Amino acid sequence: MPVTNLATVCPFALDQGGAALLVLDQRLLPREEHWLALDNVEAVANAIETLAVRGAPAIGCVAALGLAVAARGFASDPSRWRVEFAAAHRRLAGTRPTAVNLFVALDQLADAVSACEARADASTLQAAVLDAATRHAREDLAACHAIGRFGAELLPDRGAILTHCNAGALATAGYGTALGVIRSAIASGKQLRVIADETRPVLQGARLTAWELQRDGIDVTVIADNMAGALMARGEIAAAIVGADRIARNGDVANKIGTYTVAVLCKHHGIPFYVAAPWTTIDRNIASGAQIPIEERDADEIRLHGGQPMTPVGVAVRNPAFDITPAALVTAIITDLGVLAPSQIADFAQPPSLRSSHSAPPR
Ligand code: MRU
Repeated sequence: MPVTNLATVCPFALDQGGAALLVLDQRLLPREEHWLALDNVEAVANAIETLAVRGAPAIGCVAALGLAVAARGFASDPSRWRVEFAAAHRRLAGTRPTAVNLFVALDQLADAVSACEARADASTLQAAVLDAATRHAREDLAACHAIGRFGAELLPDRGAILTHCNAGALATAGYGTALGVIRSAIASGKQLRVIADETRPVLQGARLTAWELQRDGIDVTVIADNMAGALMARGEIAAAIVGADRIARNGDVANKIGTYTVAVLCKHHGIPFYVAAPWTTIDRNIASGAQIPIEERDADEIRLHGGQPMTPVGVAVRNPAFDITPAALVTAIITDLGVLAPSQIADFAQPPSLRSSHSAPPR
C-alpha cells in the first residue's frame, strides 16, 4: 500500500505579519516551486486570471485573503475605505466567471463589512475582512476533509480511479475534493491507483495532479485525454471522480472542459462517475447547467505549445475552459454535508450559513 502524506500542500499562505499573501505559482509546476508575494488587488486578480492559482475553492480563498491583505493599504478614512473595498470586490469578481466559490468568498467579505457599525474605523473594517477571509479558508479545508470521509466508502477496495483536471490540494485550501476522496480512501486501507487525464490545453492533470500525488506517495499514471475510453473498454478503470466549478439546482455540473466526455464514456461502460465538491459550489440560484457562465479563455492556450505555434497562422480556434455534465450522467455528488443523488440537490435544505444570492454588490 502506498504511503500517504496527509499533510498535503496548501497553495497559499499569509506571510508573517500578514503584509502579503504567498501563492504557489502553479504555472511553473512541476518544473519549479516558486511562491509569489501578493499585496495589492491588481496582483491578486492577475494571479487568478493567469492561473497562477486555480481551482474553484482555491480561487475563492485567494481572492478573499488577497483582498483582506490589500485592504491594509486602503484609505484610512472609513468612507473612502468602503469605496476602495467595493472597487476591489468588483475587480476580483470579474476575474473568472464560472467558479462560484469566488463569488461566495467575496460576498462573505462584503457581509463582514456590512455587519460593521456605520462609524467603524478603517482598522476595524480591515480586521473584519481578514477574519472573514481566514474563516473562509479554514472552512474550505474542513469541507475537503468531510468530503473525503463521505466519499471514501463509495470507491472500490482496489483498482484504478480516473480523474480529470486537478481537484486536489492545489485547487483548495489543502487535501482536495476529488483527490481528497482518493486520499481518504487510501488512508482507510483501499488499494487504489490514480489515472490522471493530462487535461488539455493547460495540462492541470499532467502537471498538477501528477505533482501533488507523486509528492504524497500515491500511485499515479498520466494519460492523454483521448486514451480514457480505450482504458475503460479494457476494464482498466474502476471509477471516475472529478471536482466542480459550479453545480446547478438540477444537479448539472460545470467542470474543466473534457469532463463531459469522461462522463459519457463512463455511462457507456457502466463505470460510476462521481463529482466531489463543497456545498459552496452549489449555486441554488441557477436552475440548470444551461445558465452557468462558461469562461472562454485566450486562444493562445490552444495555438501555442511551449511558446511554439501548433496551428497554422490565422486559423480559428475555440477555447471554452469548462463544460456541463448533465445530472443524468452523474452517479453521485459528494459534498461536505453528505452524498447526494443529483436529483436531491434541489430538495436539500440550504445551510443557514450560506447566502441565497451570489455576487451581490457590496453595500
Ligand atoms: O481552470 P481551472 O484549473 O481553475 O479549472 C479547475 C477545475 O475545473 C476543477 O476541477 C474545479 O475547479 C474543482 S477544484 C476542487
